[in-house]
Amino acid sequence: MARYFTQSTLAIVVIAMAFLSSGAAWAEPGRLTVRVDQPGVKISPMLYGLMTEEINHAYDGGIYAELIHNRNLKADPKNPIRWSVVESDGARGAIALDGADPVNTTALTSSLRLDITNVEKGQRVGVANEGYWGIPVKPATTYRASFYAKASAGFSGPLNIDIESNDGATVFAAATVPTVTEHWRRYELTLTTGQVAPSAANRFVISAQKPGAVWLSLVSLFPPTFNNRPNGNRIDIMEKLAAMRPAFLRLPGGNYLEGDTIAEHFAWKNTLGDNAQRPGHRCCWGYPSTDGMGLLEYLEWCEDLHMEPVLAVFAGYALKKDYIKPGPDLEPYVQDALDEIEYVTGDAKTTKWGAQRAQDGHPAPFPLHFVEIGNEDWFDRSGSYEGRFTQFFNAIKAKYPSLQVIATTPVKSTTPDLIDEHYYRSQEQMESQSHMYDTRARTGPKIFVGEWATRVGSPTPNMAGALGDAAWMTCMERNSDLVLIESYAPLFVNVSDLKKGGSMQWPSDLIGYDALGSYGSPSYYAQKMFSTHHGDVVLATDSKDISTYTWQPLARRRNGAEESPRPAPQQVPTLFFDATRDSASGTIYLKVVNRLDREQPVNVEISGVSSVAPKGTALVMKANEPDDTNSIKEPMKIVPVTETVTGLDTHFTRTFPAFSITVLELKAK
Ligand code: AHR
Repeated sequence: MARYFTQSTLAIVVIAMAFLSSGAAWAEPGRLTVRVDQPGVKISPMLYGLMTEEINHAYDGGIYAELIHNRNLKADPKNPIRWSVVESDGARGAIALDGADPVNTTALTSSLRLDITNVEKGQRVGVANEGYWGIPVKPATTYRASFYAKASAGFSGPLNIDIESNDGATVFAAATVPTVTEHWRRYELTLTTGQVAPSAANRFVISAQKPGAVWLSLVSLFPPTFNNRPNGNRIDIMEKLAAMRPAFLRLPGGNYLEGDTIAEHFAWKNTLGDNAQRPGHRCCWGYPSTDGMGLLEYLEWCEDLHMEPVLAVFAGYALKKDYIKPGPDLEPYVQDALDEIEYVTGDAKTTKWGAQRAQDGHPAPFPLHFVEIGNEDWFDRSGSYEGRFTQFFNAIKAKYPSLQVIATTPVKSTTPDLIDEHYYRSQEQMESQSHMYDTRARTGPKIFVGEWATRVGSPTPNMAGALGDAAWMTCMERNSDLVLIESYAPLFVNVSDLKKGGSMQWPSDLIGYDALGSYGSPSYYAQKMFSTHHGDVVLATDSKDISTYTWQPLARRRNGAEESPRPAPQQVPTLFFDATRDSASGTIYLKVVNRLDREQPVNVEISGVSSVAPKGTALVMKANEPDDTNSIKEPMKIVPVTETVTGLDTHFTRTFPAFSITVLELKAK
């Protein structure tokens, strides 16, 4: 399948496995000059952003805080997977999916029937949900539970609601619904834990102590959420994102935007309003999406982190190569995109979709400057993107002339404002391309590097990945007149179950988590070092005597065979850098990446100033080995550490540790 592991490696990049020659050319300390009197291009204030889609349980089982797995009972058409029957010793009951008399026929088309056939005094029969690889229990925490229920004639409850250990031995929080009736009704309650130790091997149980039948639907359990949003996001993950100070969120994909078939694309209108009205849909990454993370939730996520959406609209191409012909057939999809833009930006009183947004709870429009037409349309070998893009572009520009329209591959008949380029690479490829944009012509569209990653390490990248990333970021930052916006991908991975078919579909993801906690990979910290120290202007730099290593790219391969002659070996630097300045504070940021297995002393010159303050700071992230990494068990093994630096001057020597990324902060006059 095109989208699986090889897809983007195959994408724009040369398929090249790297191997290194035995060592780096080694000489005197290198020299690095920062020319403060030669400010260059302005750094795009939107440069550093995030890319997101439903993959690796990014939303369901990820940032979207819902704890009940398969709440809409659509994960399997035949069985209530993730649910099990709970019977005390000797009691009897059964559970099954029931399609008769659902809550509604548009979204909640099935319910979970619990038959309690045999229950004695002091016993119980119920249903348990296993959560997304556990239900997280934390001390002194209030959870919001809700569900639809109805009962058979003669059964009126009560229902007991518990968060308990998987063996049922420990109840962490409990509540009761005193009566249920023969008619569907939604019940809401809260459950509060005491001073308990955090744990995840827990389940959510609804049970009763009398015989009868109960039907349940849209069972939901939320822990506290970021900014207390009722249908909101996990606090720990949002805090990690907030710390990166991202400027935008590219949404909703990625392949997830497109779907395997046209019918399975992200149909934003089905993701609005009450969760009971959202049908959910099959996600192309092998599991269903509840669409609890709907368009408004994405926008509120942006609002909470002070980001703008970079809105990708479905452009009539699906992953299995189905496409809509440009012309009248495409018109409804173009209109859908215009409606979507209106939903994001339209006035609540004077526009239809702005009014809908207000009705959904958000009267104020959201800022929007960038709209992307499709995703990776270079896979569409039919040639239809040319016409599809133009049709979307013309319609969007006619109604919203100030929007910047992004194409996902070059087109000829129209000039897009930006082109989205994707790079999934090895460390050596990233490093060898770390000057790629320095020489790119400035005459064409601007660039959005909408997906990129050094794919080394699983489930999350290791230090080698972070080094490749940092080398690549020096390139994007230095060329940020051309590269206006960039986002690493994928952003998230649930690391609970790494077996095939488990919680991960794509290795090397920025942030990992399980039910209880989350961690940033070394690549996450590298991103954060850059995105929180970018300044607003690039300073000219040059270097001398920087050691290099020899990298032998392999030839392009197809079906296991080399397709073309092996390219010539390349000399790749071992040190990568760029320098920027923040005009308001005058702070100079010098970022230096040492990929070598040994420290590198470098003679640094800060030229074009009369003096440099002797004291500065250095933010340094380093590792003993390139495959050192963070994990759910060791979340902080590799993190940046701030040091005070003394003895700075217009000329100084700085020793950059082995396998390290450094941001030096200096003041000069
Ligand atoms: O980031 C994972 C996938 O890689 C994206 O969904 C797709 O756009 C790319 O091929």
